[in-house]
Amino acid sequence: MSRFLCRLEEVPDPGSRGFRVNIDDQETGVFIIHQGGSVSAFRNSCPHTGVNLEWVPDQFLDSENCHIQCSLHGALFEVQTGLCIRGPCAGQSLQGLKLENRDGELWLCV
Ligand code: FES
Repeated sequence: MSRFLCRLEEVPDPGSRGFRVNIDDQETGVFIIHQGGSVSAFRNSCPHTGVNLEWVPDQFLDSENCHIQCSLHGALFEVQTGLCIRGPCAGQSLQGLKLENRDGELWLCV
């Protein structure tokens, strides 16, 4: 099953955006990262404690727009893989989600 999230042009490059979607009958937080022309999607759950990563709505990148950053303890994650490279959950990963770009429309495949 797939769910429409938004159009790619609605997310700045670099930039990010969060969504609430229904997955397996549960409302779930997800977010997308747009950086360097590519886009990736993850569940909005830090592997350290399970909290949402963002403190400001739609703000998932660090101040340099290089890495995903958890606002609670500052863990940094690779934007393509979700691997934590620094912080209390180093070596663990965000849960990646399959995203399809259909003529500029971003669809989450779950
Ligand atoms: S909750 Fe994300 S780094 Fe601690």
